[in-house]
Amino acid sequence: MKIFVINGPNLNMLGIREPDHYGKETYSDLVEMIKEHCRQKGIEAEIYQSNHEGDLVDKIQAAYNNADGIVINPGAYTHTSIAILDAVKSVNIPTVEVHISRVEEREDFRQISYIRLACVKTITGHGLKGYLEAIDFLAEDK
Ligand code: DQA
Repeated sequence: MKIFVINGPNLNMLGIREPDHYGKETYSDLVEMIKEHCRQKGIEAEIYQSNHEGDLVDKIQAAYNNADGIVINPGAYTHTSIAILDAVKSVNIPTVEVHISRVEEREDFRQISYIRLACVKTITGHGLKGYLEAIDFLAEDK
């Protein structure tokens, strides 16, 4: 099984940005955690991060015929991007939306998620472990 793990803007700043919301672990820690988890479970993972909306759309499209599942944290694009929603709908691959923070307890503008409309599951507020839960969910689904 192959999973794409896609992270949007500012997630490369983990460990530096707003530790009260996102914790002290870095993006490299996240990548290592996912790699180790997938190695143990025999899952192939391709891990990607971009600060650019179009690049995220390109990566979602690249999953077509290439991945069995997508785990995505679109960062702030969650709340604004119809293009990312449409990309996930286009490839029609089971996709789990992950947010490190408990978005439902934050600002009003974070209460809208476009991508949620195309996702089989949403995980919020479980910190970095939320990515591993999302991977396990997709692996069980297979
Ligand atoms: C986030 C929540 C978003 O509202 C925010 O813009 C992010 C990170 C999260 O992981 O909790 O960049 O997706």
